[in-house]
Amino acid sequence: MTEVTLQLDDTPVATLPAHTEKSLFETLTDAGILLRKACINGACGVCRCRLNSGAVDYRGRRPYGLNDNEQADGWILPCIAYPKTDLKLMLLRRQTPK
Ligand code: FES
Repeated sequence: MTEVTLQLDDTPVATLPAHTEKSLFETLTDAGILLRKACINGACGVCRCRLNSGAVDYRGRRPYGLNDNEQADGWILPCIAYPKTDLKLMLLRRQTPK
């Protein structure tokens, strides 16, 4: 079990329990935090958010939706990312209400 802390700038705004066997996208959805999505397989980059600290595991998949610079800047793809450690996330791109 790990923890995901959501941040607004550097300020924590929420902390969620996270399981290493659940993708971040699923963890956030279960908590009622709906991210933008399209492919759900790491190809489009629409679900991206910024990892401030911690590590994720893509389990052998490649985050094709991010280029090398974006990955180096800390962007991750929650739809294919599983938490390896406690995480701090920011700049979540939420679905817009209909
Ligand atoms: S929804 Fe396409 S990369 Fe996550």
